[in-house]
Amino acid sequence: MSKKGIILAGGSGTRLSPITNAISKQLLLVYDKPMIYYPLSTLMLAGIENVLIICTKASLELFESLLGNGEKYGIQIQYKIQDKPLGLAHSFIIGEDFIGDSSVTLVLGDNLFHGNNFIKQIKKVISVGLPTIFAYQVDDPERYGVVEFSSRGNVIGIEEKPKSPKSQFAITGIYYYDNSVIKKAKSLTPSKRGELEITDINNLYLNDGSLKVEIMGRGISWLDTGTFESMHDASSYVRTIQNRQGYKIGCLEEVAWRNGWICDNKLVELANSQIKSEYGKYLLKLLHKQ
Ligand code: DAU
Repeated sequence: MSKKGIILAGGSGTRLSPITNAISKQLLLVYDKPMIYYPLSTLMLAGIENVLIICTKASLELFESLLGNGEKYGIQIQYKIQDKPLGLAHSFIIGEDFIGDSSVTLVLGDNLFHGNNFIKQIKKVISVGLPTIFAYQVDDPERYGVVEFSSRGNVIGIEEKPKSPKSQFAITGIYYYDNSVIKKAKSLTPSKRGELEITDINNLYLNDGSLKVEIMGRGISWLDTGTFESMHDASSYVRTIQNRQGYKIGCLEEVAWRNGWICDNKLVELANSQIKSEYGKYLLKLLHKQ
C-alpha cells in the first residue's frame, strides 16, 4: 500500500496581509518557487506518493493548475477544501476518506525542512510506524507548540504557545500518526481560538503512552514562513544554499526523477515546458551532471 501524506495549505494568511488578500499564502514565492513546493518535496523525499492537499475554495483552481493530479511527478495528488480555518487537527476529519485505514504524515504548507539526516529520520519514523512528532530547538518557543521534559528527559507535556515555555523545544509542522488520529480528531472540542488543536491530538497520544518525540538536530534547518521576516529569511536561506551548491532545494521534478518516479524523457519534457526560466534549465542540466 502506498504511503499517504496530507499538506495543509488553507488558512486565512491574515498575518501576511495585504499580500494574502487575493492569493493563498502557500502559493507565494520562497526565493525561486512556490512555497508549497518545499513541503511537497519533503513528502516525496520521504517516499510518499499519495498526497492530499487541503486548501481554501478560492485557491483550489490555482493549486490544481500548478500541480495537477501529480502525474507529472509520478505521484497522485488529490484536493479537498477547508471552508474555514478550523485548525490543524481538522485535516484528519477532512481527510478521513483519503486516509482510509492507513497511517498518515501531515505537513504544514508553510514549513520548510532541509538537511540530509532529516529525510533519513522521517523515513525511519514511517517505517517504524509509531505516532511521532518532531521537536526542534528555537530561540522563540512561545510562538509554537512546546515540549515539556521531565528531569530524566521524558516528554511529560505539550503546550500550545505558552507564555512561559517549559523548554526551548518547539513542535515542528510535520507529524506522523497512526489511523486512530481520525477518531482522536473527531473527539476534540475547539480551543479558545476556535480551532481543533494539533497540540490536543499530541496530548491524547501522550496520555495513551504512544507518542514518540524525535529531536531534530541542529544540523537540520526548519524554517516557517508565518511572517514577512521569516518568509524573507527562508528565501535568503534557499538562495544562499542553492547558489553555493548548484543544487536546488524543493525541486519537485528533480525529486521525482531521483526517486525513479519519472524517466529521463519525462524530465526533459518538464524542463522544456519551462525552459526560459533558470528553473527549467536546471532540470536539463541534471541529466548532464549524472
Ligand atoms: O509551525 C508549527 C506550529 O504550527 C506548531 O508548533 C503549533 O503547535 C501548531 O499549532 C501550529 O502553529 P500555528 O497555530 O501558529 O499555525 P498557523 O495558524 O500558522 O497554521 C499553520 C499553517 O496551516 C498555515 O500555513 C495555515 C494552515 N492552516 C491553519 C489553520 C489553523 C490551515 O490550512 N487551516 C487551518 O485551519
